[in-house]
Amino acid sequence: MNHELRTPLTIMKLAILMLKQAEQPAASRAKYLDILEQKCFKEIALIEDLLALKQFETQQVPISLLQINLKHLIQDLALDFEQTWADKGLTLKVDLPNPLSALETDGSSLNRILLELLTNAGKYSASGTAVVLDVSLVAGYFVLTVSNFGRGISAADLPHIFEKFRRGIGITGQAIPGTGLGLTLVKYLVQHLNGSIDVDSRPSESSEGDQLWLTSFTLTLPQVQG
Ligand SMILES: Nc1ncnc2c1ncn2[C@@H]1O[C@H](COP(=O)(O)OP(=O)(O)OP(=O)(O)O)[C@@H](O)[C@H]1O
Ligand SMILES: [Mg+2]
Repeated sequence: MNHELRTPLTIMKLAILMLKQAEQPAASRAKYLDILEQKCFKEIALIEDLLALKQFETQQVPISLLQINLKHLIQDLALDFEQTWADKGLTLKVDLPNPLSALETDGSSLNRILLELLTNAGKYSASGTAVVLDVSLVAGYFVLTVSNFGRGISAADLPHIFEKFRRGIGITGQAIPGTGLGLTLVKYLVQHLNGSIDVDSRPSESSEGDQLWLTSFTLTLPQVQG
C-alpha cells in the first residue's frame, strides 16, 4: 500500500522541481502541470477508495434505500462509456427487460459497482469488440451481467481478483493503469446491497484467429430489501 500511495507523490515532487526551474519553456511547463494534475487526481482517488474501504472494513455502513430508475442510471453510464471507448472501437450493448420493474436499493453504491465493472470491461477488452450489460429479473432478484471479450482472467488469478491491490499476474501499471482496488470496493459494495457477485472467464467459442476470452461478472441484487 505504501508503494501505491508514494508513487504518484514521487512523480508530483519531480514535476514541481522541474516547474521551479526558471528557464523551462512554456510547452514543458504545460506538460509538467498536466502530469501534476493527473497524479494529484490519482492520489485523491486512491485516498478516497482507501477511506471507503476502511469504512466498510471497520464499521457497519448505513444503507440509504430508494426506488431507483435503473434505466436512467444505466443510460447515463452508457453515454459516458460510449464516448470514452470510441477510440478503442469498443461498443456497449445494453439489454434491459421491457417493462423494467422498480428496484429498491442504494443508487450511488450500484452506480459505483457498475462503473468499476464497465471500466474493467473497457480496460481489458480487445479493440473493436462489444461489451454487453444484460439485466433480467429472476424470482425477486435483479441479475446484472457485464461481459466482455479480451485477455480474460486466468484460473490462477480468478480466486484472487477481489483481494486488495491484487492485479492479474503479468499486468503492469504501464501497460494497463490500475491499482487493484476496484474489485475490492465492488465486493464490499455488493455486500452492502445484500447482493452477491460471481465471475467467470473462459476461452470464447465464437472468437476466431486470436483466441479471446469471454469474461462475465454477474451481480445479483434483491429487488426489494428486507
Ligand atoms: N473484465 C476483465 N477482464 C480481464 N481481467 C479482468 C477484468 N476485470 C478484472 N480483471 C482482472 O482483475 C484484476 C483486479 O481488478 P480491479 O478492478 O480490482 O483492479 P484494476 O482494474 O487492476 O485496478 P483499479 O484499482 O484501477 O480498478 C485486474 O488487475 C485484472 O487482472
Ligand atoms: Mg478495475
